Amino acid sequence: MGCAEKEIWVKLISCDEVEEDFGAKIERNGAPPLAVFRLGAEFFVTDDTCTHGEASLCDGEVFPNGEVSCPYHGGTFDIRSGAPCKYPCSVPIKIYKVRVIDGFVWADLEQA
Ligand code: FES
Repeated sequence: MGCAEKEIWVKLISCDEVEEDFGAKIERNGAPPLAVFRLGAEFFVTDDTCTHGEASLCDGEVFPNGEVSCPYHGGTFDIRSGAPCKYPCSVPIKIYKVRVIDGFVWADLEQA
């Protein structure tokens, strides 16, 4: 008996549209929005909504150390791991596997 994980790769956005200082928000029908971040040549995808409140992390600033600040109360998350880094954030944000193919960012939205 196994519960094989099913990978669902979805094309999200052109790499050119993702800035280093701010996340790019991806709205989804019937699901919470995603955030695409860039650190140098690397891309990361997380849930966009802060786990402390209803803030969009794409309205926050991305720092060179890979943390994004929440625009509501200034807590931060590591966009690489989703880990909360600064009070009042204490619950991780969800992160997704990423691939860059032909200049576009894809994420595995992994629905079982
Ligand atoms: S809503 Fe994000 S830190 Fe409070």
